[in-house]
Amino acid sequence: MKSNQSNIKKAIKYLNKNYCIGVPSETVYGLAANAYVDSAIKKIFDLKKRPKNNPLIVHYLGIDSIKRDCFINENFMKLYKKFSPGPITYILKLKKNSKISKNVTNNKKSLAVRFPKHKIFKELLKQLDYPLAAPSANITTKLSAVQVTDVKEEFGNKIKYILDGGKCAVGIESTIINLIGKPTILRLGGLDISKIQKTLGLKIDINISPRNKIAPGQSRLHYSPGIPLKMNMINPKNEEAFILINKRKTKLKNYFYLSKKNDLNEAAKNLYSCLRKVKNKGFKSIAVEKIPNKGLGKAINDRLQRASKY
Ligand code: TXA
Ligand code: MG
Repeated sequence: MKSNQSNIKKAIKYLNKNYCIGVPSETVYGLAANAYVDSAIKKIFDLKKRPKNNPLIVHYLGIDSIKRDCFINENFMKLYKKFSPGPITYILKLKKNSKISKNVTNNKKSLAVRFPKHKIFKELLKQLDYPLAAPSANITTKLSAVQVTDVKEEFGNKIKYILDGGKCAVGIESTIINLIGKPTILRLGGLDISKIQKTLGLKIDINISPRNKIAPGQSRLHYSPGIPLKMNMINPKNEEAFILINKRKTKLKNYFYLSKKNDLNEAAKNLYSCLRKVKNKGFKSIAVEKIPNKGLGKAINDRLQRASKY
């Protein structure tokens, strides 16, 4: 954790001037700006080359600070108590008199809120009197960033400042749940949905289709390493990068491990950095071993599936 108080002060200086900065979260790095200021939010969309109709998640320190911007309900309270701060994003009804920039929500009547767990992100929010809108710190459709060097690779010197919080502990984006009406999962992510189900005590709907208009960010092509990727591979070609989740005896140079012991949490943590490494080494295609479709494996497979649409 290289970010001390003086770095946080510097970050605040840039945010107060309505610049975007890179921030570490437990899921992935975010590209953050003041959620109340139109011009600051416009910069996020420009930098990411993000379509304007794709709304942003707003990050808060705790429940008290969201009450001026959105309505809370019983299901929210159950999940908030159990899982926040952490890798879950709630879609709630936006208040009419909220100060959230229309650019954040694309004039929608809902708001995506998240309470990040990373120490540095929390410290930053504690010292600010506005919440931070922050999408993942990558160019739209590309791989998300899980360490400072990834953010630099995406944006170069186009952003003024990045707070360094080390490598993200979870490694994939938050799980998104719509809590307006019947609870519905809109994105698989860092919180296993079986835990959410258990806490709410009901079977929740899942709508993660790329045609789903509620969360337009779930497009078919997403999380792309920029080269073809195939899943469920047993024997890839020699020249392909082979991504594995279990240790193999052979020591070929093109083997890359998400985990050596079938650990799905470890695999999620390593997913984006592994794909980025393979791409940067100049491989022309990627084969991935079958990943068990349980726990975080579901979210990993979701990301791989979208990445494979290249
Ligand atoms: O882990 C994360 O959630 C990271 C970190 C930085 O917090 N952020 C992140 O943001 O993944 P982004 O912008 O890459 O993905 C946000 C997703 C998009 O698919 C967007 O469509 C959806 O959230 N979203 C945002 N506001 C929404 C709303 N009001 N209703 C439905 N979906 C919404
Ligand atoms: Mg993203």
